[in-house]
Amino acid sequence: MTQTPTLFVCALCKFPAAEPGGGDTTGGQRLLDQLSEHLSEDIAIQPVRCMAACDRACNAALTAPGKLTFIFNDLSPQQAAPELAEFCRQYAEAEMGKVPYGLRSPAIKQATAYVLPPLVAEAVEGAIAR
Ligand code: FES
Repeated sequence: MTQTPTLFVCALCKFPAAEPGGGDTTGGQRLLDQLSEHLSEDIAIQPVRCMAACDRACNAALTAPGKLTFIFNDLSPQQAAPELAEFCRQYAEAEMGKVPYGLRSPAIKQATAYVLPPLVAEAVEGAIAR
């Protein structure tokens, strides 16, 4: 069963010091705006309000049932969207979301902070039963 991957993006992240923004738009909102132009319709995008990594803006996480979870930080609000959208496409097509390291763009390699294993259904059911 294939389920739609979800990309969580912090809408409140500020612009990084090296990449000042202007006006009332946050860096996270700028990234969300940029992603809307690049992300395919088979990826759900979910804005969130703070991912508790405010000093590593911009922050995002990509996950899907039965797949790895990738957590990204230090994403450029102005430049990361095309490569992040491409990684989402690769992730959607890859078994368990395991995009080969050599196929990841330099920006994605640099921004990947954590990779978590998929939840195992039995472990989830066991945790619920406790
Ligand atoms: S404001 Fe984006 S992680 Fe806190």
